[in-house]
Amino acid sequence: MSLSPILYTENVSKRFGGVVALDGVNVHVSPKMLTLVIGPNGSGKSTLINVIGGILRPDGGRVVLNGRDITKLPPHARFRLGLARTFQTPQLFTSLSVLENVLVPMHEYYEERVLEILLRNAWRLREREYIDRAFQILRLLNLDHLWDAPASDLSGGQMKLLELARILMSDPRVIVLDEPLAGVNPSLANEIMGYLTSLRSELGVSFLIVEHRLDIALKFVDYVFAMHQGRVVAEGPPDAVVKHPAVIEAYLGG
Ligand SMILES: Nc1ncnc2c1ncn2[C@@H]1O[C@H](COP(=O)(O)OP(=O)(O)OP(=O)(O)O)[C@@H](O)[C@H]1O
Ligand SMILES: [Mg+2]
Repeated sequence: MSLSPILYTENVSKRFGGVVALDGVNVHVSPKMLTLVIGPNGSGKSTLINVIGGILRPDGGRVVLNGRDITKLPPHARFRLGLARTFQTPQLFTSLSVLENVLVPMHEYYEERVLEILLRNAWRLREREYIDRAFQILRLLNLDHLWDAPASDLSGGQMKLLELARILMSDPRVIVLDEPLAGVNPSLANEIMGYLTSLRSELGVSFLIVEHRLDIALKFVDYVFAMHQGRVVAEGPPDAVVKHPAVIEAYLGG
């Protein structure tokens, strides 16, 4: 039996005018698992993760994080509760170094803790901890040797990883990734999926991934939800889901 989910949706629905984008969707993410959402174009994957991230308000149903109903919370409030997401175009400061980019959220963190800033010793301790954590994360993503390089020197794939590194600094429980392998060459795509696997075991973070590159993604994930026309038509371990008749039909029928 898997542990109780860190994140789940319950009966989520969403319409756009006459289009039913989500129709009673239940998905869950277990702690320290890689969970993949697949489905043909227009099946509702992006709508689902936008509802989970708080960018879209569902017409019905609930989103629950760590036992708490977050359905009505805005994205930044969800972020504070440990639900983070990356963007298709990495949000980086290209003139800053790799390490500086990773340390950016540290300042936001401090702003919220003005009292701690006044306590100098606490500040120094935290700063040491933050830099240690930054290097731990950079090592896990094989970016540590580039810590001093400007972010603009990185390849597209490395920029995606750097954005992920920065998000990891806030110690999220769940990270939502929409097509992390899009536009990435096969060897780097395999590398990225490998990093996600080690992050989940080293840092205890869970991932909810939407991805079209099934040949690569399926090898690494623990659990899969297959969507078709706004519904989950199959779920389970990757090998079982890809053989499921409803999934085959969804891809063949379009
Ligand atoms: N903002 C919107 N306004 C109107 N219709 C939308 C909007 N967003 C999505 N849709 C429709 O909702 C349905 C689900 O779209 P969604 O983008 O969630 O699919 P998807 O599974 O992410 O597809 P893809 O694999 O192409 O990214 C589609 O019919 C789409 O046209
Ligand atoms: Mg999409």
